[in-house]
Amino acid sequence: MKKRMKKNLYKTSILFLLICLNFSTSAKNKTSTVDQNLRELIQQQKLTAVPKTKSDIPSIYSPIAQLGMKLFYSKALGGEKDTACVSCHHPLLGGGDNLSLPIGTHAQKPDVLGSKRRLKKGYKLGVPRNAPTTFNIIFHKKSLFHDGRIQAITDQGFAGINTPDVPFEKDDPLGGNNLVQAQARFPITSIAEMRGSFMSEAGTETLRRSLADRLKKNWLEAFRYGFSDSQADVDDLITEQNISFAIGEYERSQVFINNPWRKYLAGDDNAISINAKKGALLFFKSQAKGGANCSRCHSGDFFTDELFHNTAIPQIGMGRGVGKTKTNDFGCGSISNKASDKFRFRTPSLLNVEVTGPWGHDGAYTTLEGIVRHMLAPLKSIYHYDKKQIKQKGINLKDMEKNTLAAVKYGLELNTIKNISTKDVKNIVSFLQTLTDPCVKNVKCLSPWIPKKTDNDPDGLMLHAIIKS
Ligand code: HEC
Ligand code: HEC
Repeated sequence: MKKRMKKNLYKTSILFLLICLNFSTSAKNKTSTVDQNLRELIQQQKLTAVPKTKSDIPSIYSPIAQLGMKLFYSKALGGEKDTACVSCHHPLLGGGDNLSLPIGTHAQKPDVLGSKRRLKKGYKLGVPRNAPTTFNIIFHKKSLFHDGRIQAITDQGFAGINTPDVPFEKDDPLGGNNLVQAQARFPITSIAEMRGSFMSEAGTETLRRSLADRLKKNWLEAFRYGFSDSQADVDDLITEQNISFAIGEYERSQVFINNPWRKYLAGDDNAISINAKKGALLFFKSQAKGGANCSRCHSGDFFTDELFHNTAIPQIGMGRGVGKTKTNDFGCGSISNKASDKFRFRTPSLLNVEVTGPWGHDGAYTTLEGIVRHMLAPLKSIYHYDKKQIKQKGINLKDMEKNTLAAVKYGLELNTIKNISTKDVKNIVSFLQTLTDPCVKNVKCLSPWIPKKTDNDPDGLMLHAIIKS
């Protein structure tokens, strides 16, 4: 009797072992066909996982980036000394602010960042668009801003930078050395972002010079260190051009591209999960071959064609004051004044997209799954849009349907991808998560980009964030 039981047990364990073996080999085979297909697409699309830039990436430890960091965190550049760049672009908040629509000047507690940041009573939200990440900004070759209003003029090579200070497509002689520097000269001129009621009559250049004058009192040593010039004269050194240059170098040092996707492209089949691989297949495959063809727009290693498209993201908030409702946003149509550009926004990069929410130019989607569903089936997503996902107070939701449908009717550029399951959506999200550099989720790893309380603070206006989410 006992012997029989033993024999049976022996038999079942052999059987079990065989099943296990069979399972693991079939799983392995399955993985390898997925790998084969995916690696083929990677080859076809010439991907390397390392976006290209012609310029050198500044080190965060370089004197100029260190000066730029101090300026980026200093409320001295806010007209009313209550806002810094970092108020809306904190490294611990994915280089953004975790809000759908930002709060710049007149926050209840200026140093509180994250989803608990509130406006003082009696003030209204004044920034119509979501704050994009400053991470990897160095890789943008063509333009900055959701509507591209900082734009490289690339008439046979680099021929200057167009900015809102000059007519469209003309070179701004004060644009600076690169797009990031050119951009850094504008938030300080925006009433709702940083300026408040400071010098409300002054033009942009007068304002910039006054802010530079403000720094002359206490910042000379920091600038001498930053520009490695211990003798330089204060008026030569503390200029609006040097301020924006230093800030730009700090931002351009924020390169975070060491993600699992890169490991996978370097040959490590185990760097990403089978689900992420299936998601990647959908992302890169053409619709004819059963994919979602996301890489039609999110192309290349920076996951953007840097062009403008109408994807009809639900238009929430105050918009840019245009359209029938006066709360719509025409995107780059308002910049180029071309009818074909109406409702188009720049394709964002998807590197680190997991940590850069809320998503869309107005932060209409507060989950990554939500925006992915929109990209797969836009009309369904718009009709079933859940307004309750917007927990932030003071956002106008009443014109949303009208504003969004105006964009849809004008010429939605997304196709509805058929036969997509919930599993497919989750797989795409898993793939997007492989684009996260672990550094951006790690306080210690990000610490070089965050000034310490013990660091020298020229005028005591450094913003040491209290992050609440
Ligand atoms: C009140 C919040 C706020 C403050 C303060 C702020 N920004 Fe922004 N930033 C935004 C918003 C919103 C946008 C997008 C605006 C648009 O596209 O119309 C943006 C866009 C940018 C971009 C372009 C990103 C891209 O992908 O094109 C950069 C770079 C940037 N800001 C850097 C800065 C710097 C430097 C400062 C300080 C001088 C600053 N920001 C201050 C909210 C803010
Ligand atoms: C027709 C071009 C196009 C296609 C195809 C496309 N996208 Fe997009 N995508 C965009 C544009 C443009 C935006 C920004 C829209 C806006 O903010 O108004 C965007 C935004 C996003 C965002 C939000 C990023 C952020 O930082 O807010 C994600 C995530 C995204 N797309 C993923 C996908 C996925 C996944 C697919 C495939 C299912 C896809 N996209 C297909 C053009 C496209």
